[in-house]
Amino acid sequence: MTLVEPGDPAALFESVRAAFVDQYGEPPTTVGRAPGRVNLIGEHTDYNAGLVLPVALPHATYAAARARDDGLVRVASRQQDEPWEGELGELGPGSVEGWAGYAAGVVWALREAGYDVPGVDLLVDSRVPVGAGLSSSAALECSVGIALLDLLGVPAAEQALIDAAIRAETEVVGAPTGGMDQTVAVLGAAGTALLIDFDTHESQPVPLDLSGHTLLVTDTRVSHALTDGGYGSRRADCEAAAAKLGVPTLRQASLSDVEALTDERVRRRATHVVTEIQRVTDTVTALAAGDWAELGRIFDASHRSMRDDFEISCPELDCSVAVAVQAGAVAARMTGGGFGGSSVAVVPDERVEAVMRAVDAAFVLEGFRSPVHLRAVPSAGATVVRS
Ligand code: GLA
Repeated sequence: MTLVEPGDPAALFESVRAAFVDQYGEPPTTVGRAPGRVNLIGEHTDYNAGLVLPVALPHATYAAARARDDGLVRVASRQQDEPWEGELGELGPGSVEGWAGYAAGVVWALREAGYDVPGVDLLVDSRVPVGAGLSSSAALECSVGIALLDLLGVPAAEQALIDAAIRAETEVVGAPTGGMDQTVAVLGAAGTALLIDFDTHESQPVPLDLSGHTLLVTDTRVSHALTDGGYGSRRADCEAAAAKLGVPTLRQASLSDVEALTDERVRRRATHVVTEIQRVTDTVTALAAGDWAELGRIFDASHRSMRDDFEISCPELDCSVAVAVQAGAVAARMTGGGFGGSSVAVVPDERVEAVMRAVDAAFVLEGFRSPVHLRAVPSAGATVVRS
């Protein structure tokens, strides 16, 4: 059984500073930190102007930075073999291949927004599993972004940070994502989930009183990528549905509207979105009432909707959700973009160990790769780390 720990923040701060010195020969002048996230509910609703309810993880990415005066941008990662470097003036959409695009893309996006970001040395170290549907990319973008803003002496520019992280991902990396991950990576707060409305662009913390329950994340280790077409084609189906109905986004559509769509696939995609938005509201109500049985029904409906109508689940996710519930979770569903990645379960504290063991055993039986687990203690969003 493998539990991925978030690590001790003070030790991680020291080790990213030491790795920076090893890489560049001088200490960094600032260190930014931003968390991964797990979405409780509201999947593929953000780019449909809908509602989402993510939680910032205790697992985070640390970005150490130091300004340069020659216009060079250098990026290294403790999780990647190859560092990247390029000129400030060359940064832009399509200019940076691979993982470094998330970091260098933020340099570009902040400059596009009018911030005078100089050449910079960056080194990142992350405790957020990559490809697990837990937004390691947003953690990377936001940790780099908050470090860069600190280098410039810009305090608390939360919206600028979110916007730059989104532009890095959608324009430089080219993943057509919706903004949930970057928003919670910045605005998440300890002990809460973040209810974000992508119609009004307002968000509010929702206190999470889990009274004796743990949010248990299981990473199936079926790796997912948001640039490989499945995510984009779902988004295109949603846009086609809205266009057919003559509304700007599916947020303005009702269930009876989408049920009248004649294209069968587009109808199922849109049905997922409209029902999922309602499930976010229902989840907030159930959590406030501590109604675990109702939460279980809502998560079950959400998982089925993603499996059957949106078609973004996989056998490993279905297995981990079903076995978690059999072993005592009160609610479980797949989470994130889909096509692999993680499930999230709400588990009575005394059943956590049993749930992890049952899922591990089922994966052995099915011949799946061994999963890993995380305890998703609701944590804070991006910060500059001072010591
Ligand atoms: C990914 C994207 C988000 C969101 C989710 C699905 O995490 O980055 O914008 O669309 O998938 O809910």
